[in-house]
Amino acid sequence: MAESNSINRRDFVKSAAATAASVLLANALPVSAGTNKKRYAIVGTGHRATGMWGVDLAKRYSNEIEFVGLCDKNVKRVAAGKQLIGVDCPTFTNFDEMLAATKPEILMVTTVDSTHHQFITKALAKGITVITEKPMVTEAKDCQAVLDAEKKHNNKLIVTFNYRYAPKHEKIKQIIQAGEIGEVTSVNFEWYLDTRHGADYFRRWHRLKAGGGSLWVHKATHHFDLINWWLAADPVEVSAYGDLNIYGAKNSPFRYTNCRPCPHKSKCPFYWDMTKDARLMKLYAQAEDVDGYFRDGCVFREDVDIYDTMSANVKYSNGVMLNYSLNAAMPIEGYRLSFTGTRGRLEVRDYERQPFEVVEKSEAFLMKNFTGKREKLAMPQIEGGHAGGDDRLHDVIFKNAQVPDYLKLPGARAGALSALTGIAARTSVEKKRPVKISELIRL
Ligand SMILES: NC(=O)c1ccc[n+]([C@@H]2O[C@H](COP(=O)([O-])OP(=O)(O)OC[C@H]3O[C@@H](n4cnc5c(N)ncnc54)[C@H](O)[C@@H]3O)[C@@H](O)[C@H]2O)c1
Repeated sequence: MAESNSINRRDFVKSAAATAASVLLANALPVSAGTNKKRYAIVGTGHRATGMWGVDLAKRYSNEIEFVGLCDKNVKRVAAGKQLIGVDCPTFTNFDEMLAATKPEILMVTTVDSTHHQFITKALAKGITVITEKPMVTEAKDCQAVLDAEKKHNNKLIVTFNYRYAPKHEKIKQIIQAGEIGEVTSVNFEWYLDTRHGADYFRRWHRLKAGGGSLWVHKATHHFDLINWWLAADPVEVSAYGDLNIYGAKNSPFRYTNCRPCPHKSKCPFYWDMTKDARLMKLYAQAEDVDGYFRDGCVFREDVDIYDTMSANVKYSNGVMLNYSLNAAMPIEGYRLSFTGTRGRLEVRDYERQPFEVVEKSEAFLMKNFTGKREKLAMPQIEGGHAGGDDRLHDVIFKNAQVPDYLKLPGARAGALSALTGIAARTSVEKKRPVKISELIRL
């Protein structure tokens, strides 16, 4: 199913009974000898791993996978993660030891973004199928290393672009692909992060370029992947601006290490009481003494080096021009998106969270040139993580759910191109000039 779906044939032949083999051939994931279950391990047992890639899988996919190992550099977090997922497998703080001891067939990578490539390349070299959270990488050199490893070991990598699997995003894909608005010529995409979700990036490791590569990469990789996918085109050149207007030391007269002991909490609009969330207290607060990491870090710390206000122009291989913006301190959460084509226009508004009354959460209109008509489209609204994308992605990976060709699992190329668009945007801000993707990498 994946873009690069060559499994290790030797392991495959060794592994299974005929019935299991037919399932395998279809979804291209290996299974353990003598069982239909795939040996599954995770590196990085924080929020995402214990939720979407942990307890959700343990509950719903116990016939398809067997948890064989959990690894995190924080010994207390890996113990807490194991409890939260509710499995009984060994835990490790050393990744190489985990691979050697547990021999996983599938590795889930859910560590801090900037470290993904280390685990991906090591596991690919051992013939393990790798699933990595987005962004695949945060730096161009690491991107090259992952692409080279995938090619060299002829192995499989899945990048978890869950946004593609949200039915509302599939509907947009269908409209564009069917040529309803002709050939797309330009796109406007504004993404809004509200003062709750947006601020959360500045509390955590994401506030450092060295952690998430800036929101150009950590967050916008989702959006750039959607655009690449909707347009079926590659980014060519990026010109961008970015600034820090709300968070960081320059935007507040006061700051502290983190919210819980903060003497300024009564006057800080971004004060957040983590003690109300037992799960987060277990995962992070009780593990603080191991690595000094604060999940409720102050958004005004001196070391914030990313942007909260971003704007980019991207030129694509098919000539399309994208106007993109990302703001991380809005009263609303969601997006506005429009495609202009040679025969019409598609406009979408989607507010995931809004503190005031707006008639509809999501609205979309299709307009055809010279007809004077505007058709209101019914956009599917599904409950569940990332508008239904998370569950569907699980089913495609682990249950071989049948999907149209355009929903085949994204691989290293998709991971590279979306991350590189963000890396090019970040580089453009820093160098104050347009940046070509071809300057960054040999694809
Ligand atoms: N697709 C989505 O919608 C989505 C949503 C949230 C997070 N994510 C991604 O999931 C990943 C994890 O995010 P999170 O929110 O769970 O972060 P987190 O901080 O809760 O977890 C990251 C974990 O990785 C561990 N870690 C860091 N470096 C390590 C190393 N070298 N070796 C072993 N462990 C290491 C940390 O100790 C931590 O426990 C990130 O890549 C993030 O971008 C994706």
